[in-house]
Amino acid sequence: MTETTVTIDRLGHRGDGIAPGPVFVPLTLPGEVVAGEITGDRIEVPKIVTPSPDRVRPPCTHFKTCGGCALMQASDDFVAGWKAGVIATALAAHDLTAPIRPTATSPARARRRATLSGRRTKKGALVGFHARRSDTIVPLTECHLLAPPLFALLPVLVEITQLGGSRSATLSFALTLSETGIDCAVTGGKPLDGPLRAALPRFRDRIARLTWGDEPVYAEAAPTLTMGKARVTPPPGAFLQATAEGEAALRAAVTEALAGATRLADLFAGCGTFALPLAGAVPVHAVEGDATLLAALGHATRHAQGLRPVTTEVRDLFRNPILAEDLSRFDGIVIDPPRAGAEAQTAQIAKAQVPRIAMVSCNPVTFARDAALLTAAGYRLNWVQPVDQFRWSPHVELAASLSLPHLTGE
Ligand SMILES: C[S@@+](CC[C@H](N)C(=O)[O-])C[C@H]1O[C@@H](n2cnc3c(N)ncnc32)[C@H](O)[C@@H]1O
Repeated sequence: MTETTVTIDRLGHRGDGIAPGPVFVPLTLPGEVVAGEITGDRIEVPKIVTPSPDRVRPPCTHFKTCGGCALMQASDDFVAGWKAGVIATALAAHDLTAPIRPTATSPARARRRATLSGRRTKKGALVGFHARRSDTIVPLTECHLLAPPLFALLPVLVEITQLGGSRSATLSFALTLSETGIDCAVTGGKPLDGPLRAALPRFRDRIARLTWGDEPVYAEAAPTLTMGKARVTPPPGAFLQATAEGEAALRAAVTEALAGATRLADLFAGCGTFALPLAGAVPVHAVEGDATLLAALGHATRHAQGLRPVTTEVRDLFRNPILAEDLSRFDGIVIDPPRAGAEAQTAQIAKAQVPRIAMVSCNPVTFARDAALLTAAGYRLNWVQPVDQFRWSPHVELAASLSLPHLTGE
């Protein structure tokens, strides 16, 4: 075995250190000198020869193997700065700059939404996150990501895997911690036959709603979440912001960016994370491609007191963006697309010249591309707020304020 020594230049988008070559080295930091055997283009098990001053002792014993976290070797300050740097680099690729605010990082053990995997074994079952770059499941004796009630559910998930899993397939548990209990949507399991259907309701006191594939097993206690003055029951496995703290940081940024607007549109609205709190003050038109999410939003609206009017529209905003002439009735828009961004829709917003825009994004590259469409049409990029609700992961999320100074007078 020949050992090679390399110096890490930078971190890649998956959080791996990258040395000239390129050679990818997990669990390392820029400036570190590391040694190890190169296989392909990777040093999988590096020895740290010269550690970075930003290196910290990882708080979790599973860090070396578990794929749930990639950046636990780095200080919080380093990760926050690195995430802000990823945004600045994406903006610079479009010749954009903006004040980037300090990263709002969610605390440890705050994830209220997570997907865990389960597989039956000869002796029982394993439940946890996948190992790094592997199909193996790492069973967890501790976890610094999951909210404590989700971590405490692991023994129940092991039992469910024994009942409904197999040794050849991996079960997937989409978990959401709501204000009224845990929502658990299971996929990849055995068919929901009579014995399994009869066995699963025994978990009623630990899981508020259990769904197997597309089939509800039981749902007496509807999982609900407060959004502004409304209470929402999201459909099983629904998109929700991953931490309550992350959601609050995004909501505060969106509210600030849209201050002064009186007629709002929420595009890619989900089940109302932004639309419902904003509707406490002004009318909102919520547009979303997933009819089940929008039905949950509509139901919450009808049962809430003191909201301004909320209208909903199921629409594929990639194929059928709202056209500029129909957007001009709004004076503020929040847009929160999936990773692909919203190029076609943003082009229409640029054309419509809606005065205030709050952009929310989980992908700085598509965010910068779409923001550039707006700045080319006269918008000013006022600020960017990085929000880190995927702690210790390389995910970068943000909210940003754009406006037309000649229309907002700011
Ligand atoms: C990042 S989530 C944001 C949801 C919501 N704003 C929130 O914070 O909970 C993106 C949303 O876009 C929706 N979506 C994905 N593709 C879409 C499309 N082509 N047209 C409309 N909505 C779409 C998804 O269903 C999802 O709810």
